[in-house]
Amino acid sequence: MAEPSGILIKGGKVVNEDCSVISDVYIENGKIVEVGLNLQIPGGVRVIDATGKLVIPGGIDTHTHMELEFMGTKAVDDFYIGTKAALAGGTTMIMDFVIPQRGKSLLEAYDCWRQTADPKVCCDYSLHVAVTWWSDQVKKEMQTVTKEKGVNSFKMFMAYKDVFMLDDSELYAAFSQCKEIGAIAQVHAENGDLIAEGAKKMLSLGITGPEGHELCRPEEVEAEATQRAITIAHAVNCPLYVVHVMSKSAAKVVSNARREGRVVFGEPIAAGLGTDGTHCWHKDWGHAAGFVMGPPLRPDPSTPGYLMDLLANDDLTVTGTDNCTFSVCQKALGKDDFTKIPNGVNGVEDRMSVIWEKGVHSGKMDENRFVAVTSSNAAKIFNFYPQKGRIAKNSDADVVIWDPKMKRKISAKTHHQAVDYNIFEGMECHGVAVLTISRGRVVYEDGQLQVSPGTGRFIPRKPFSEFVYKRIKQRDLVGTPTAVIREPYKGEVISL
Ligand code: URP
Ligand code: ZN
Ligand code: ZN
Ligand code: ZN
Repeated sequence: MAEPSGILIKGGKVVNEDCSVISDVYIENGKIVEVGLNLQIPGGVRVIDATGKLVIPGGIDTHTHMELEFMGTKAVDDFYIGTKAALAGGTTMIMDFVIPQRGKSLLEAYDCWRQTADPKVCCDYSLHVAVTWWSDQVKKEMQTVTKEKGVNSFKMFMAYKDVFMLDDSELYAAFSQCKEIGAIAQVHAENGDLIAEGAKKMLSLGITGPEGHELCRPEEVEAEATQRAITIAHAVNCPLYVVHVMSKSAAKVVSNARREGRVVFGEPIAAGLGTDGTHCWHKDWGHAAGFVMGPPLRPDPSTPGYLMDLLANDDLTVTGTDNCTFSVCQKALGKDDFTKIPNGVNGVEDRMSVIWEKGVHSGKMDENRFVAVTSSNAAKIFNFYPQKGRIAKNSDADVVIWDPKMKRKISAKTHHQAVDYNIFEGMECHGVAVLTISRGRVVYEDGQLQVSPGTGRFIPRKPFSEFVYKRIKQRDLVGTPTAVIREPYKGEVISL
């Protein structure tokens, strides 16, 4: 039987980032056509009863690494499995990273990543591009990628020395180019030199296990780099987005900078909000290694709650996952040396439930802030709002029916991801995506996925996002220093 052409979601509470209202939502041809009560709907449409449930914009995961080749192996969630898992958890768009090798073309890496992702994605996606080395070619390609390829964000690494790391003068140049072309500069903020020294020290002390990963890069290593990136971005009046804010110290740096008026956004991730680094001290090596990522999950158990408080109160702005999954046998590449453990954890499927549980169920944030930090703010910063991130007429029909009362227990036994463990194993979460609509099609319902690879689309993004750049442009207009007008000096000058 042919699928009905339209979908009417009836009786739910429509939740946007600024208000909630009981309303019906009518969807046709991949778009939200109407939001309101007593809508005039053609016959033959599918009617979904959402009474007692929330109707929210599909989640946007700002940070994934599907099938990334990294530290000698390849992440097990590919674009098909990863986006399927995303949909099952109520996320309808991911933003992945093109990461060119040093010396390689950004454009070629971008094309390659599009060719990898396009045939596999089950939900819409977009791409950030990493700047892993610096040259005139990179500078030019940043412009081309922005003008012609729908990218408006570039990630610079301050860690992974000799692999991806840029030094301060290169960061200055890359941030300046971002500013010139209207892109958002993103940073992986950790001091790569200190990590390299710290790692040598830990190994010399005989610390070879996963705990060494955190011990060689304590919080201040993240906080220092975060402050340095903010200082460099401010020097060029470039907007800055700090990816994976993992520590209280780094979060405080972002928060203070925002209070001092800097245009900076902090992205905590599901892992950092839902669990902590104490697991890296676990006696079972495989268990401990499963939590290794960079920057590390922190052993201070008050960290997740603290990050959530800052997220609730707009010191931090938006959430991703850094989903970059390696099974235990891949992690085991570092069984005798923690520096060889492939860095990365899961999150793409569980982010929405973890944030609901730790943020909304706990009473730290309301349902509207939940929508802001899981969806709308990402769309605003990266310039595709209100195409996504809002339940409104003409927006894309990426919609989730969310049951705030339903509970589920997270487990690797039931998750849809390819990785063989789950860092949130056993966590009971209130808040479950009971039905997910992607591009106007029901793709997840009653625990069943109905997806096919390649049905998602690449979402191009324009530069100079107003949410980010309005203030930047005005500051350029009024804040550029001018020289003091004075009579030329006519006195004596010593001769040299
Ligand atoms: O451990 C991590 N974060 N792996 C992915 C690469 C990155 O730095 O984001
Ligand atoms: Zn990173
Ligand atoms: Zn544990
Ligand atoms: Zn990452």
